[in-house]
Amino acid sequence: MISPKSITLRLALFFSSASTVVLLAIGYWIGAMVETHFEEQDLHEFEGKLTLIRHVLSKAQSPDDLTNAAQRLEEALVGHHGLAVAIAAGKQQTLFATPDAALLAPLLGAQAMPASAGPSRPAVWSWEGRTYRGLLATAPTSMPQGAPVTVALALDIGHHLEFLEAFRKRLWLAIVVCILLTALFGWVAARRGLAPVRDMARIAHGISASRLENRLPLDAVPEELTQLATAFNEMLGRLEDSFRRLSDFSSDLAHELRTPISNLMTQTQVALSKARSADEYREVLYSNLEEYDRLARMIGDMLFLAKADNGLLVQRRGPVSLAEEVRQLFEFYEAWSDELGVGLDSAGEGIVPGDRLMLRRAISNLLSNAIRHAPRGGSVRVRIERSGQEVRLSVENPGEPIPPEHLPRLFDRFYQVDASRHRSHEGAGLGLAITQSIIEAHGGRIAVTSTDGVTRFEAIFPAG
Ligand SMILES: Nc1ncnc2c1ncn2[C@@H]1O[C@H](COP(=O)(O)OP(=O)(O)OP(=O)(O)O)[C@@H](O)[C@H]1O
Ligand SMILES: [Mg+2]
Repeated sequence: MISPKSITLRLALFFSSASTVVLLAIGYWIGAMVETHFEEQDLHEFEGKLTLIRHVLSKAQSPDDLTNAAQRLEEALVGHHGLAVAIAAGKQQTLFATPDAALLAPLLGAQAMPASAGPSRPAVWSWEGRTYRGLLATAPTSMPQGAPVTVALALDIGHHLEFLEAFRKRLWLAIVVCILLTALFGWVAARRGLAPVRDMARIAHGISASRLENRLPLDAVPEELTQLATAFNEMLGRLEDSFRRLSDFSSDLAHELRTPISNLMTQTQVALSKARSADEYREVLYSNLEEYDRLARMIGDMLFLAKADNGLLVQRRGPVSLAEEVRQLFEFYEAWSDELGVGLDSAGEGIVPGDRLMLRRAISNLLSNAIRHAPRGGSVRVRIERSGQEVRLSVENPGEPIPPEHLPRLFDRFYQVDASRHRSHEGAGLGLAITQSIIEAHGGRIAVTSTDGVTRFEAIFPAG
C-alpha cells in the first residue's frame, strides 16, 4: 500500500474508511432487522389463522362435519387480502381452497408433511411473477380414524419486498452520503487540527540569522506539539548563542587585527616623514617585526582553533606523562617566574593517551596565565592525580579572584577579563580557548573556580 504523504489526507482516509466499516455494518443490520420484522409479522398472521382453523376443525367428528366446518371457514378466511389457504384431507380430497389456492402447489409438492403437530418452517417461493411466504401445518380432528387434515397457508409478500428494496436503496444512498460527509469532515477536522503545525512552519519561515530571537509561543501550541515546540525553541536558543559568539568573534577579530596594523602604519608613516639614517630605519624594522610576530602568532592561533572546530587536530596518540611535561615546562618558565618572584610547585603524576605537543601547549597556556596573575611571593601549584577512570590536572595560583560573571566566558575566543589591565602582556585572549579545544579533542573537559584569593583551573582527561 502506498502511504499518502499528507497527514490531512491520511486522517481523512482513515476517518472515511472507519466510518465506512461502521456504517456498512449498521446498514446491514438495519436491513436484516426490517426483513425479520416482516417475517415475524407474517408468522403472527399465520398463527392467528391456524388457531382459528384448528379450532373449527377440531370439532369435526365425521367427514360430513369436516366438509361443513371447512365451508364455515370460508366466511372467516375469504376476503382477507393476499392470503391463500388450502385445507385437504389426505392427498386428494380438498376440503376448502381460496380462489388463488393454485399458488400453494410448490409448497404442497416440495415440503414433506411436518412430523410433529407444529407447523413447518416457513418457505418463500415465486409463482407467476409474485413472491409468497407460506407454511404447511396439520390440524387434528375429533374423527375416530383418518389422516390429520393438512393446512397450507401463504401470503403475498411482494409489497413487503418492494418496500424492502426501496428502503435498502435509500439506506445505502444515505450511507454513501454519510461516508462522503465523514471523509469531508475528517479532512476539515484534520486540517484544522494541523493548523498549529502550519503556524510553526510560518514562524520557522520567518527565522533568519538576523532574527533568531523569534520563539514559538508554547501556550498557543497544543499539548502533543509542546515537546516539538520546546525542542525547536531550544535549538533556536543554541543557534542564537552560536551566532552571537560568531559575530562577537568576528568583531573581536577585526578589533585585534586593527591595533597591530595601525601601529605598523603609524611607525612606517613617522619613519617616512623625513630622511633617516640606516640605524634609524633598522630600528623601525625591528619594531615592525615585533608587530608582525604578534600578528603571525594570532593568525597561527586562529588557524589552530579553526582546525579544532572542524575536528582536524591531527593527533598522534601515545602515552603522555603529564608530570614530565610539567617538569619541562617549569624549566622553560623558570627564568620568567624568578624574575616575577613567583614560585613553581608540582606534585603527583598521571599518564594520558594523546598528542604530547598539544597537551604541552594546553598546560603551557594554563601555566603562563597562572604565573602572570600570581602576586610576587606567591607560588603556582600544579597537582596531578588519578581518580577512577580519570586523570585530573589542576593549576592554581593565588591572586585577585576573577569576578564570577566572567567565569563562564573565560574560554571564549578573545575574551579577557580586563583587556586594559594586562596590556603590558600582548596576548590576544586566545590561550584558554586553545587549551579548551585541545582538552576536548582528547575527550576531556576543563573547569575554572576562583574563590578565596585562589584561581584554579582543572583539566579532566579520560585515563587510557
Ligand atoms: N590564572 C588566572 N588568574 C586570573 N585571571 C586569569 C587567569 N587565567 C586567565 N585569566 C583571565 O582570563 C583571560 C583569558 O585568558 P587567555 O589565556 O585566554 O588569554 P590571555 O592570557 O589574555 O591571552 P593569550 O593567552 O592569548 O596570550 C585573561 O585575559 C585573564 O583576564
Ligand atoms: Mg593566556
